[in-house]
Amino acid sequence: MKWLVTGGAGFIGSAFIRLALGGGWARRVVNLDKLTYAGNLENLAGVQADPRYRFVHGDICDTRLVERLLEEERPDAIIHFAAESHVDRSILGPEAFIETNVRGTFSLLEAARKAGVARFLHVSTDEVYGSIEEPHEADESWPLRPSSPYSASKAGSDLLALSYWTTFRLPVIVTRASNNYGPYQFPEKLIPLMISNALEEKSLPIYGDGMQVRDWLYVDDHCRAIRAALERGEPGEIYNIGGARALPNRRVVEMILEMLGKPYSLMTQVKDRPGHDRRYAITTEKLARASGWRPEVPFEEGLERTIRWYRDNPGWVARVKSGEYQKYYEQNYANR
Ligand code: NAD
Ligand code: DAU
Repeated sequence: MKWLVTGGAGFIGSAFIRLALGGGWARRVVNLDKLTYAGNLENLAGVQADPRYRFVHGDICDTRLVERLLEEERPDAIIHFAAESHVDRSILGPEAFIETNVRGTFSLLEAARKAGVARFLHVSTDEVYGSIEEPHEADESWPLRPSSPYSASKAGSDLLALSYWTTFRLPVIVTRASNNYGPYQFPEKLIPLMISNALEEKSLPIYGDGMQVRDWLYVDDHCRAIRAALERGEPGEIYNIGGARALPNRRVVEMILEMLGKPYSLMTQVKDRPGHDRRYAITTEKLARASGWRPEVPFEEGLERTIRWYRDNPGWVARVKSGEYQKYYEQNYANR
């Protein structure tokens, strides 16, 4: 199989490419990435020289470029990760989210339709369901109630992608995953931010009471699920992907501090995120039934691995935390 991956220089896309090439999932992988603040070719240093890999620096909104690439490469499938992915940034400035997540997805779908691509896997999120009250868990038919500009832009792109199946019979599959964590995650997201701040003995900002619940999924488990959905899923279908490990944020941060041997006193309660979803919860039985996929990495083990990686890679952390990151951190946290 020959795959076009978008957003492959980001956190999940790069894990997917490393696994796809390392595990022989595909015979060629082309990575189209704009290299925004979140894209980092260091994440792919291990595959850069692999003759089965090609990197193309470009924007998914550039329809001409996408059309040319599809003509040149004729991939069997597109696996679409590229997105603006951070909720807090979508509150500070939503425009890029609409542009990349909605218009960018449209541009890819159009090009894929014209080229007759045989599979289009759209990587989405459980955030499209919005906050779920206990004791419910959302299945794939749950209503969409996104709360942030980020999740609204993802919900919009999910629906657009599905419409390309209904209307044009472009074989689209949508996956909706819960909160990912693991090595190479940009330290704006909860787990890497808390690990890197704790390592520097800086305060750990907990939004509101810290009792919001997220379901944690190790990134490699997510990548294996995407492969399963791509190979075993049905066109026009949606598949939830979760880690089956729901925890309140405060407990996650306590575990990080315990594993690092740092005091709980580093946690500081700060002003809550506007529109903050209280709880995410999904069932993943549909993908399990279709493919046999289940998450393999227990949270404690995944967290230990992740902490070890951040400890062992201070250079990577220092480089991504320089420049633009400082400005973002100031903007998001200074007046909380
Ligand atoms: P990320 O922010 O780490 O990476 C995004 C990548 O997309 C970067 O390499 C960036 O350069 C690239 N990109 C952004 N705009 C682009 C454009 N216009 N053209 C080409 N490339 C562009 O994101 P991530 O956490 O790896 O998430 C990947 C996907 O998975 C996203 O679609 C996200 O919505 C979804 N998702 C993420 C999570 C999570 O917990 N991180 C959970 C569920 C779903
Ligand atoms: O559920 C899947 C989604 O998970 C993905 O679609 C998104 O791309 C990804 O960013 C993530 O969204 P969240 O908003 O849940 O992730 P984040 O890491 O930003 O926050 C996790 C929880 O931690 C959330 O309840 C907010 C809280 N938080 C976050 C940060 C950055 C804090 O309390 N303090 C913080 O500084």
